[in-house]
Amino acid sequence: MSKSQSTMDRKTFLSKSAALIAGGAAFGSNPLSYNRVVGANDRISLAHIGIGNRGGELDWVVSKLSAKHNAELTAVCDLWRLNREKAVTANTQYYGRAPRAFQYPEEVLGLNDVDGVLISTPEHSHSPILKMAAEAGKDAYVEKPMGNVLTEVQAARDTVKRHQCIVQVGTQHRSEPYQIAAHDLVQSGVLGDVSKIEIVWNYHGPRWRGRDATKLIREQDTDWRKWLLTKPYRPFDPQVYCEFRLYREFSSGIPDQWMSHAIDLVHWFMNDSFPRSVVAHGGVFAWHDGRENADTFQALLDYPKGFLVSYSTSFGNDSPGFTRYMGKMATLVNTGGEGSPRYQIVEEKGNHEQNPAIDVQRAVKPVLLPGETYLPPMGIGDMTLQHMADWLECMRSRQQPHCTVDDGFAHSVACIMATEAYWSGKRQYWDAANESVLDHEPAKS
Ligand SMILES: NC(=O)c1ccc[n+]([C@@H]2O[C@H](COP(=O)([O-])OP(=O)(O)OC[C@H]3O[C@@H](n4cnc5c(N)ncnc54)[C@H](O)[C@@H]3O)[C@@H](O)[C@H]2O)c1
Repeated sequence: MSKSQSTMDRKTFLSKSAALIAGGAAFGSNPLSYNRVVGANDRISLAHIGIGNRGGELDWVVSKLSAKHNAELTAVCDLWRLNREKAVTANTQYYGRAPRAFQYPEEVLGLNDVDGVLISTPEHSHSPILKMAAEAGKDAYVEKPMGNVLTEVQAARDTVKRHQCIVQVGTQHRSEPYQIAAHDLVQSGVLGDVSKIEIVWNYHGPRWRGRDATKLIREQDTDWRKWLLTKPYRPFDPQVYCEFRLYREFSSGIPDQWMSHAIDLVHWFMNDSFPRSVVAHGGVFAWHDGRENADTFQALLDYPKGFLVSYSTSFGNDSPGFTRYMGKMATLVNTGGEGSPRYQIVEEKGNHEQNPAIDVQRAVKPVLLPGETYLPPMGIGDMTLQHMADWLECMRSRQQPHCTVDDGFAHSVACIMATEAYWSGKRQYWDAANESVLDHEPAKS
């Protein structure tokens, strides 16, 4: 982020924005040496572990890319028979032949012909299964957050690096064209010094409660102990199995689910990856349905480069979401909730006290892709193809994809700190030297 751009005039400001908007993205990447390279003409063979709601979406995404990227999902794995059978049916339709079906991750990871695995189990098992996949020498596309227990995320990251696996973490918005254009604008310094970022993503409804799957699941059709994985035994509970986002031991809810996306973009846009400290507050205020995790949540995170991030979500009110990157020269305004492609740059022009008419004098410039003239919609689904395509390309080139394990580690750390701050009521600090979370300032080195 360049400093002291207070002298940039309006014309320069607008033309600089436009040039960047038209310019698209350029990603730095470092080739890795690796001895298991998929040849240019080889078909990439994929396996998929954990194929519920998100998994079904990812299978569809892979099927759309299959011809262009010469890839096929050849094996599916799910502890639960019903979802395993559904995945076999869907993928048989996509490829004209049935994938091999397994109940346990160890079985698919033992298949020599499999080059990469998709992992879309609940978040408490992301890091442990990613580590197993890396130990088996497989590349991986792992859903976000990369993990929610610090030691497990560290172990997964280290194992991936040691085995030089190509891993894409599933914060797919990093690969979307509008987010890339917005990233490039922030990186250009057009906003001036950014001191505050405000993110508000809302929803009205008992989010994550009432999943139909809770009525279908029976303990004898799955393996409950394997689902618990690293957690102590507790009796089978269909709601925990299917609505894990509401239960503290398995998920933090809003931080793991939504803030992971939001803070991952902040880290990338600002090129600053670990919060210095985090406070958080919230509670179950809207939906008293037995959920343990907050339905109303706010975290404040400050970063070493010198800016504060406010992340806020309410499930009791659907007031329109937004994100604002607030700089001394301009504000980058993203209207809408998670993944919204609608970005505008709003010029800063002094303050209300000196100029009461300031609001109408601010230049507003939409962030559009080359050739586009209309503002894009305020919402976007989770079905973007680019992130998966990026992973498949990187599997061949052995370059690093858009969301690496280092990026996944960083967004996991921010979410873990916010969760700990929420439950403990204490400000949490990142001790970078020792990669640990403390409830007091780390000693100066
Ligand atoms: N990137 C996105 O936009 C996005 C969107 C939705 C969900 N997600 C992520 O996807 C993950 C899964 O969410 P979901 O709604 O699909 O959950 P889900 O409960 O519908 O599906 C999880 C599946 O994993 C299986 N499973 C669990 N543990 C397993 C194990 N150890 N081995 C094999 N199979 C196992 C379950 O039987 C189930 O079929 C979540 O962590 C969430 O964060 C990401």
